[in-house]
Amino acid sequence: MIKFACNNPNIFVDMASKIQFASKIGMIAATVGSAVGLGNVWRFPAEVQANGGAAFLLVYVACVLLLGIPVMLSEFALGRAGQSDAVGAFGKVGAARPWKAVGGLAVLASYMILCFYMVVAGWTFEYLLQSISGGLLDPISGETGLHSHYAAKMDSFITDSVNPLVNTYMMILINIVVLIAGVRKGIERMSNVAMPLLFVILVLFAVVSLSLPGASAGLDYFLHPDFSKITPGVVVNALGQAFFSLSLGMGILITYAAYYPKDTRLVQTSVVVSLLDLLVAVMMGLIIFPAVTTFGLSGEGMQGATLVFVTLPEVFAQLPATQLWAILFFLLLTLAALTSTISIAEVTVAFISDKFKIGRVKSCLIVLLPLFALSTVCSLSMGPWSDVLVCGMNIFDLLDNVATNLMLPIGSIFLCVYMGWFAPKGMFKDQLTNFGTVRSRLYVPVLFVVRYIAPLLICVVLVSYFIR
Ligand code: PHE
Repeated sequence: MIKFACNNPNIFVDMASKIQFASKIGMIAATVGSAVGLGNVWRFPAEVQANGGAAFLLVYVACVLLLGIPVMLSEFALGRAGQSDAVGAFGKVGAARPWKAVGGLAVLASYMILCFYMVVAGWTFEYLLQSISGGLLDPISGETGLHSHYAAKMDSFITDSVNPLVNTYMMILINIVVLIAGVRKGIERMSNVAMPLLFVILVLFAVVSLSLPGASAGLDYFLHPDFSKITPGVVVNALGQAFFSLSLGMGILITYAAYYPKDTRLVQTSVVVSLLDLLVAVMMGLIIFPAVTTFGLSGEGMQGATLVFVTLPEVFAQLPATQLWAILFFLLLTLAALTSTISIAEVTVAFISDKFKIGRVKSCLIVLLPLFALSTVCSLSMGPWSDVLVCGMNIFDLLDNVATNLMLPIGSIFLCVYMGWFAPKGMFKDQLTNFGTVRSRLYVPVLFVVRYIAPLLICVVLVSYFIR
């Protein structure tokens, strides 16, 4: 048994008993797979458009580098030192009991997110299937043109009581199969296929989009900074977007880092993961802005679901080989959503199996089977149950708001406070330097951010949510 003293000489963590990713590439693919999701594809371009183009991009990059990476490193360090799930990691490194509640909050938040994210993943899957079958183009009653066709299509699909459910269930089943197969044979293998494929599709789209007639006007729009739009509110948005996009505060990175090989350089990994996530977001900008400018579709059409389910299909309809582009795009979107749902689900799967010492198959079923009911509620809350409101929101939006806007920032603040002030002396440094075997010049600035800057700024994000 290989034992590593984790700073505190009384605490030994058994590094050999925990399964690890088989390769560095697989480890990066899985982590990037979690980060790259709907946040990159539909949230980022909308934020850029609303908030001053490249000016927002600059603020966003600053948030990723100055805050995202240090917070990510806190999760990595805790996860690898703890060699357990998001709750167990605190216990294993010797944290006092109340800190485990921070892990508990992350597990709860991630499960709440899973309930509605699975529904959206189902939508992407339906659009993939419809693109393959050609059904996406089938006429709809009352439509008066391309835009109204796709708008009506999305509306009738999302608010339907049966169709979205079938697709959500399909995504749950795929999650069950991948997760039961395990960390190496399931998560890692799937990510090794999905991520390269996703990048190839992205590059293809970027080439096509950049050769459209409106490309230079679109790029001008995307890359021309309008600093007058940068208000404190926009900075807060950028920070929230960075946290969501990097999958921070949900216990995912704590859980995954426990599967990282012991010689993994955490600082390097956090930089690679953040930059790849950023690259995908920027590439989406390079794809979307030239396309929507060419076809005059900006404005309302840039908003979230409308962008991907209405505006982009409208773009594809005006390109030769419409069906091919639709298939490729929804394949990209489905892969991005799938790798994210897998990572969110793994947080609770790992927690249940560590906590109750039960096998993987059982814990996967315990975590994923209830989703058939819970995601059903989320899905129906967009249609037949849309008048069931709590605090003025349907169930779907309620879960989204409470988990992403409240629980995630609160969890992240406590995580930073723990890693900055309360973690056993030397643990953070040992993890960043692999017990002194690699140099890490970033340790001091990272610790400074984690101690002082990150908790403060995340508090600002949290408070601003209430006074908006
Ligand atoms: N990071 C993902 C994205 O950008 C979102 C996500 C949220 C992933 C929660 C996992 C958990 O879409």
